[in-house]
Amino acid sequence: MTTFTSEPLSDILAWAHEMLKENTTLSFEVLNPDIGRGSYAGESVTIDKTAYIYRSYKAWSDLGEILFCRMLTPKIISKHTVQITYEKLDLSDSFHHSDAKEEKYGTQSRFAAIHKNEEPAFLSPYLRALRSVKVGTKKRILNLGINTGDEFDLIRQILSEEEYRTIELVGIDHCASAIEQARDRFNEENATFYVHDINDLASLDLGRFDLIITIGTLQSPGIEFKPLFMKLVQEHLTPNGALILGFPNCRWMGGEMIYGAKAPNYPYSEMTLLYKDVYYCKKYLQQKKFRVTLTGKGYVFLTGTRIHFFP
Ligand SMILES: C[S@@+](CC[C@H](N)C(=O)[O-])C[C@H]1O[C@@H](n2cnc3c(N)ncnc32)[C@H](O)[C@@H]1O
Repeated sequence: MTTFTSEPLSDILAWAHEMLKENTTLSFEVLNPDIGRGSYAGESVTIDKTAYIYRSYKAWSDLGEILFCRMLTPKIISKHTVQITYEKLDLSDSFHHSDAKEEKYGTQSRFAAIHKNEEPAFLSPYLRALRSVKVGTKKRILNLGINTGDEFDLIRQILSEEEYRTIELVGIDHCASAIEQARDRFNEENATFYVHDINDLASLDLGRFDLIITIGTLQSPGIEFKPLFMKLVQEHLTPNGALILGFPNCRWMGGEMIYGAKAPNYPYSEMTLLYKDVYYCKKYLQQKKFRVTLTGKGYVFLTGTRIHFFP
């Protein structure tokens, strides 16, 4: 097995790329990251006259992600070293490749296997956003692109039963199978779901909402991002209304949430469109006197709350 001691990461990266051209897994031996913990990557750790470059498990896991691999459980090889093993992800195993229209995100799709609330990089900033808009004080909440309702499920989990029951939840999605499942999950009276095109909210005549949430949806093909976004703010928010917008900065492949937005015509993650759309929303909301924060990693969360709150 190949052993790395003081080689720079650039050498290891080049070696791994080369290995993965011919192999679906690769293993190598390195300094056990538990030894020298607290060091930064690149610091030198000398053991028994051998100089090692320290790297944490997080660094090795990041490298696996960059190589589109999953990292398997490391094995202890010697008193000071471990074996790191990467296994190539099946990149064809992804809902991104589906051509199905409304049912691309249906209950029979690969998307249905994804539970975002179980991914820390999604859960933590989404929770923060819900808390920062004081979700428990909102009386009417609208979710566009609700799918099977995961985003409402977290609201139900974090609020007391009493708080939750006083909120009216409305979810919209054009995917019939997903909405059917959402209706099964939320058979409470305060939750209503529509199979409907969100480009045509006017015909539902839903009134205004104290909170609008839309995650991974506004940039979908078939949605005119800017006009819809402006309409949401102008026609569907109450004067004190808040917004939580989630912009994907990841791809879901082979069971993993891989960091970085995929853009057409680029073989690697490219974020111009993400930054452009996020910045557009931020500027627009600031002009309308919202306080806007941007948080998150695999998903960028834009949270907008009114600066002048009228009780
Ligand atoms: C990437 S999924 C995100 C679902 C959910 N918000 C989440 O983050 O897990 C996008 C959702 O938007 C829905 N969608 C896309 N375009 C739509 C449209 N024009 N009208 C209604 N729903 C739409 C899809 O069916 C899908 O459920």
